[in-house]
Amino acid sequence: MRAQASPLDVSALRAHFPGLARMVAGRPAAFLDGPAGSQVPESVVFAMGRVMRDLAANTGGEFITSRGIDELVESAREAAAEFVGGTAREVAFGLNMTTLSFQLAHAVARTLAKGDEIVVTDLDHDANISPWLTVARDRELVVKRAPIRAADGTLDLDGLESLLGPRTKVVAFTLASNALGTVPPARRITDAAHRVGALAVADAVHFAPHRRLDRTAVGADAVLCSPYKFFGPHAGLLSIREDLAASLPVDRVRPASEEPPGHRFETGTPSFEALAGICAAIEYIAALGSGASRRERLDSAFARIEAHEAALSRRALARAAELPGARVHGITDPARLAERTPTFCMTFEGRTARSVSAALGERGVFTWWGHYYAIAVMEALQLQSSGGGLRAGFLHYNTLEEVDRLFEELADILR
Ligand SMILES: Cc1ncc(COP(=O)(O)O)c(C=O)c1O
Repeated sequence: MRAQASPLDVSALRAHFPGLARMVAGRPAAFLDGPAGSQVPESVVFAMGRVMRDLAANTGGEFITSRGIDELVESAREAAAEFVGGTAREVAFGLNMTTLSFQLAHAVARTLAKGDEIVVTDLDHDANISPWLTVARDRELVVKRAPIRAADGTLDLDGLESLLGPRTKVVAFTLASNALGTVPPARRITDAAHRVGALAVADAVHFAPHRRLDRTAVGADAVLCSPYKFFGPHAGLLSIREDLAASLPVDRVRPASEEPPGHRFETGTPSFEALAGICAAIEYIAALGSGASRRERLDSAFARIEAHEAALSRRALARAAELPGARVHGITDPARLAERTPTFCMTFEGRTARSVSAALGERGVFTWWGHYYAIAVMEALQLQSSGGGLRAGFLHYNTLEEVDRLFEELADILR
């Protein structure tokens, strides 16, 4: 059941993030660079430091610190499963999303035959496109690209479905665009993939800090995300259907354990301190909600996050509409906020995204510029050759005042 969305106490939760206290030119910094990496709560920093200070050991030893690491790994799998959906046995930790995506693509490709087809989308970050292009080149597979509609930055679902057929083996798509914020209807895509017997692989990197993620509810066979986008450390996270994880021919060293199946994707010794940080980040998010179990608290936390972020989006779209010479690419209709995250790609008449982002940076407003590895999006919007867009990406710790400040600074810079 969907939890009631009571408001987030944003000023209280901001106190958990030491990074948010940074000042630039005598004013507090405004961190609108969340889609490239979020700020980190003190509890995450503490948990990581504690492992390095008190539990520096490897797994499987017959002594107390090693047993502590065994327990840590188990609880990290449990927390990650509650965060991404599926079970603890279906979780794999990695270096980052991109590395796990290449590993998954290589393993899946070994099961495919020449001429088999993979569908990717123009809405995706390149980390869910290039791995499939790479294996396709190596194994003579065919890659088809589902287009987006330039007018509102949404995925052309009829176009995607028209690409599917008996030879489609994988549909790789995103749960949310890191460039435009678009949130496509994931269930329609996974259902379409499964109707033709293909695997549905979802990139949840941009989605994860904004919406409640549940691989099984979405119907994906695998989802990938990055804890450093949801207030945790730099690492990657994969949730993959247990039978698929157990059967794929992944690269392994010989005595490596086959159990749990997700572990088959983990090569070498993981960053145990990152695992502790991931647990703490998930605990931080859960504590924003209410409920008896961590899963329920996560449900409730994301209902609150979504409501606050919708208010940020509504304000940003209204302010952008009043800014002469500025254009927001993607969904701009305030009635369609359920279809987007508060991530805004903007261009400006007569100014490059880079020059505007640099001017904002000097004033303490941190945005991004360029393609942000969403190269297919930039090409579809015909922005790639002019230096891409400026991205202002809000997270739950951002405020309405920061939205106003962005647009006041922009008005001044563009004047
Ligand atoms: C939507 C999306 N997918 C994938 C990635 C790649 O993630 P990682 O840096 O963990 O490899 C990013 C990183 O920005 C992203 O935004």
